[in-house]
Amino acid sequence: MPIIRKKLIAGNWKMNKTAGEGVTLAKEIVDAIGRETAVDAVLCPPFTALESVAHVLEGQAVKLGAQNMHPEKNGAYTGEVSAEMLRTLYVTHVILGHSERRTYFGETDAFINKKVLAALANELKPILCIGETLAEREGGSTLAVVQRQLEGALAGVKPEQLTSVVIAYEPVWAIGTGKVATTAQAQEVHAFIRELLTKLYGAPLAQKIRILYGGSMKPSNAPELLAQKDIDGGLIGGASLEAKSFVELVKAAMAVS
Ligand code: PGA
Repeated sequence: MPIIRKKLIAGNWKMNKTAGEGVTLAKEIVDAIGRETAVDAVLCPPFTALESVAHVLEGQAVKLGAQNMHPEKNGAYTGEVSAEMLRTLYVTHVILGHSERRTYFGETDAFINKKVLAALANELKPILCIGETLAEREGGSTLAVVQRQLEGALAGVKPEQLTSVVIAYEPVWAIGTGKVATTAQAQEVHAFIRELLTKLYGAPLAQKIRILYGGSMKPSNAPELLAQKDIDGGLIGGASLEAKSFVELVKAAMAVS
């Protein structure tokens, strides 16, 4: 029997929404899909809105994610927050290695690897972002970049921990640009990622891991992307900032589930 991977739609609000605005948006989403369980939905507000949004999500199927965390337990790391701090706010997921963190904040594969291990040690599910820049794609190194980022970030992750990891393939040139990867371009890289996971962890485990697509995904292009064999959901930036489009994306995922 083929393994059915439950689709996951995650909203990455980035540096948008005050706590109050986040509550309004989360309430609208919960009213529409709060008890939906055929698809997993995760909202990732900024740190300052986590606690208020957590109250809205209490008792609902929609889960709470953070956008970043520091690998250390505590200490002199001004401006940072730890996995444990997130856990106490009922956070279940954490986006790690987003290209904006890599580009603007100098995050390396080695640092992202430490965060992945710390998240897993604290029972947080990492949404690990990988993806090539336009120059890398044009230079023909897409697959090599994706391989380096994936292997770097997963170093030391044990097979029994891998099922908690979600991978997000986000071509950097498609993020916030309106330029979505074609379904063929996306599926090719997703299949490659699953092959890499198969080499690292074996087929039965690799078949269980969800690989999301991210980069200008919206209701109009989602049905085709989500119908691809190895695309198991989406990490949504712009279209997650309005309840209507986010809910439509969850429904698009339901339609192919
Ligand atoms: P986008 O962002 O949907 O606005 O392109 C996706 C992301 O950066 O996670």
